Amino acid sequence: LNAVPAITDPRGVVALQEATRWLTTEQQVIGLPTETVYGLAGDARSALAVSRIFAAKRRPSDNPLIVHVASLTMLEDLVGKAAITPVHRRVMAAYWPGPLTLLFPIRAGVLPPTVTAGQPTVAVRFPAHPVARALIAVSGCPLAAPSANASGRPSPTLASHVVRDLDGRIPLVLDAGQCACGLESTVLSVQDAARPVVLRPGGVTVEQLTATLGVDVACHSGHVADAATPAAPGMKYRHYSPRARVIVVENSTATAVAAVCSRHSRVGVLRTVSPVAVPGTVDFDARADPVKELFRALRWLDDHSVDAIVVEGMDDAHVGRAFMNRVRKAASEIVDARALTGAAAVAV
Ligand code: TXA
Ligand code: MG
Repeated sequence: LNAVPAITDPRGVVALQEATRWLTTEQQVIGLPTETVYGLAGDARSALAVSRIFAAKRRPSDNPLIVHVASLTMLEDLVGKAAITPVHRRVMAAYWPGPLTLLFPIRAGVLPPTVTAGQPTVAVRFPAHPVARALIAVSGCPLAAPSANASGRPSPTLASHVVRDLDGRIPLVLDAGQCACGLESTVLSVQDAARPVVLRPGGVTVEQLTATLGVDVACHSGHVADAATPAAPGMKYRHYSPRARVIVVENSTATAVAAVCSRHSRVGVLRTVSPVAVPGTVDFDARADPVKELFRALRWLDDHSVDAIVVEGMDDAHVGRAFMNRVRKAASEIVDARALTGAAAVAV
């Protein structure tokens, strides 16, 4: 006898049924909570649904989507058993369900070519969020789902962010509160088993993957300047940007942050380390969990009509690597506190 976890709130059951109807009968796209960020989900096998995803978020058509599954059988149906290598199986055993996306060679005829946007591989993830898993299981649909922000905006970590960006363009958002991770999944390629590469850093860290696989795992920072054709096509676009200018302070000190703030009139500070707010600024204290709060903080500070958002950088390792990847991509300006002269160079 197996006890099956149940969603007990009747409103939740109705919402799943309604979401399933939108996905299957209507081939529509909906807002879906995952443990990383909210996704904009449609049936990955439907060319119509996939075209609606690109249209709703105004996403460039050369940027491929991640397909979400909720079982190994579903993955096998998508890519074929032979495509799942021992290295895939090792990382899947360690991190699925969870914030890790893996690339597999495409299996001809299963998905519309628009999902993969001309790539030879398809990106697949098995999310941990109970609502995402339940919807995939109930609907029977592998779900293509990019982050549910309008293209270029910070990813949504609350249902209200999705409503703000996509109201009038999609019929439904399933609201499950704030996303626990707050940053998108790690995208990993193990196509060359001896040289696994992280194409986008995320919740599962490079250090964790190196330990699991027992070989060095490389990490593409994804900067525009790195390559004309980055391995993860999405990383070439400017991203995650609020309306305000984002200024990242690397090797951050309280003195350096105060000096940068003094150059602007209405300043918001995304505080990750300093114990006190800079006087005269709009302060978002994200010290308890900077990664989880990053995108919410960028949107919240924007809503307070600041002209500039000064972000206190984190150490560029472990989960800080994903944080720094995102804020650098959002930044108009990157300041190294060590390079500031005069009083600002004094560490506190
Ligand atoms: O956590 C996440 O991954 C969220 C949630 C909703 O699951 N989804 C997400 O999707 O962040 P999106 O579309 O915003 O980002 C997908 C990234 C892009 O940088 C895209 O270029 C890359 O994955 N990608 C997708 N398919 C790929 C492929 N076949 N080869 C290389 N990169 C790929
Ligand atoms: Mg995205």
